[in-house]
Amino acid sequence: MQQTYFMIKPEIVAAGDQKIGAILDIVNKAGFRITGLQLRELDRSFVEIFYGEHSERPFFGELCDYISSGPVVTIRLQRENAVAALRELIGATNPQEAAIGTIRNLYGASLANNAVHASANTDDAARELELFFG
Ligand code: PPS
Repeated sequence: MQQTYFMIKPEIVAAGDQKIGAILDIVNKAGFRITGLQLRELDRSFVEIFYGEHSERPFFGELCDYISSGPVVTIRLQRENAVAALRELIGATNPQEAAIGTIRNLYGASLANNAVHASANTDDAARELELFFG
């Protein structure tokens, strides 16, 4: 069984429990088991480490400011082929390009406010799970 890291971003948490519940329901119905979950406010320095691979990209500062601007939900998920299956379930990074019915299609507003994060590959999943769940 494979594990992956999933995060619900600040704009969804700020919108209230109903959207968090709806997103977790989609994940659950897709066969994922939640093996860890926390509501957390992340220090900007921690977010810079988390998104370290994007540090040279022009939007890095904006991304780190945003993710540290309010509480997020940090989640460890388990399923067969979890990393690839979750990436498919959330849809493309840009919600305008995300397939119909994916989480970002349903709940994402823009490239910067795209509702959720999921580990891009198994190496990222291992690193991100270690950062958030030890
Ligand atoms: S991915 O998933 O790594 O392939 O996506 P990528 O396009 O490389 O984007 C990485 C994360 O950066 C966020 N992003 C942005 N934030 C603010 N402004 C702009 N223009 C922008 N472009 C990309 C994007 O939401 C990705 O965040 P995560 O948390 O990984 O989804």
